[in-house]
Amino acid sequence: MIKNLRPLRIAGVGYSVPDAIITNDDLTKLYDTSDEWIYTRTGIKERRVVSGNENAVDLGEKAARNAIAKSGIKIEDIDCVIAAASAPPQLYPALSCNIQTRLGIPNYVPAFDMTAACSGLIYALQVARGLIGAGLYKNILLVASDNNSRLVDWEDRGSSILFGDGAGAFVVTEAEDGVDDILSIDVRADGSLGQYIYMNIPGKNCPLVDPCDETDAKIHMSGRDVYKFVVTTLPNYIDKCIEDAGMTAEDIDYLIPHQANQRIIEAMQQRLNYPDEKVISNIKYYGNTSAASIPIALVEGVEQGKVKLGSTAILCGFGAGMTWGAAVVRLRDGIC
Ligand code: UT7
Repeated sequence: MIKNLRPLRIAGVGYSVPDAIITNDDLTKLYDTSDEWIYTRTGIKERRVVSGNENAVDLGEKAARNAIAKSGIKIEDIDCVIAAASAPPQLYPALSCNIQTRLGIPNYVPAFDMTAACSGLIYALQVARGLIGAGLYKNILLVASDNNSRLVDWEDRGSSILFGDGAGAFVVTEAEDGVDDILSIDVRADGSLGQYIYMNIPGKNCPLVDPCDETDAKIHMSGRDVYKFVVTTLPNYIDKCIEDAGMTAEDIDYLIPHQANQRIIEAMQQRLNYPDEKVISNIKYYGNTSAASIPIALVEGVEQGKVKLGSTAILCGFGAGMTWGAAVVRLRDGIC
């Protein structure tokens, strides 16, 4: 960890999911699959999807409002907005700019999106830590929100079974009491594995030059490659993040991982030798909600009494890029 950074406090966490539920049985109307196949391979039973004109901005707005309410920080005191958005309704204006306006955050504070796919929340936390640590901003809103269901290929049973829509938000602030809630954090990327999960933006060259290849605007995923990469990389990586925090796995109360596949979650659980109570999983009901999955799992875990605050957790995510990241954090009372 870099020394002499100003300490960061996680002040509030919130989430939001759409109302519409698509079960595995519903998916059998789209292609040849079964609840049994999907559940045993992924742990997913159902997922939420946006309906009508609802989109990631709506979800992000609600998640942000919930996080701000818990944080006790006034909207007018938020001085930076960062969104982790990989499947937003528009490339620009940025999702963060839309959220700034919807919430009435002062219309001069910086707002920008960053794309690190499902690792986005950990990446955003790392960026916020740098900005707060350097004293550049004081109260930062982080929003992770994607409407994946608009961008998956609903004819591809290998990928569309996995994803759902949802949003999560963190409000982070300079810790007045000097206690840093980030005990360790690290983010990584290996762009040479970009073909494992990708989404093109279709377009056409200027008609006066040779045409480019045509593409679609759909999520393409080589599930098996992602799976192998994650189960061989993440367990060792988590060990390193725990060591960086100067802790052992036993010292940490919860593993709150990105919800991508129950079998991947179990691979991490085995490595840490954690009993089920220490591992927060809600993939059964939401599928993979990208960067939002960690805050959704955290807040829902608190709501359901599975996560007790005044504790510590290891958060870890991975996704397209390939990107990955992990943080050991303090979860103070009252943050959600
Ligand atoms: O945030 C990161 C997001 N991505 C991930 O975390 C993805 C990680 N990977 C996975 O979760 C798994 O690879 C999947 C669940 C996506 C797929 O499971 P798999 O065991 O790796 O299946 P597969 O793609 O190797 O396919 C095995 C078989 C194939 O049939 P054949 O060729 O062996 O006859 C597929 O056609 O299963 C078939 N299949 C299906 N069958 C029924 C693929 N999807 C389905 C389906 N229903 N939905």
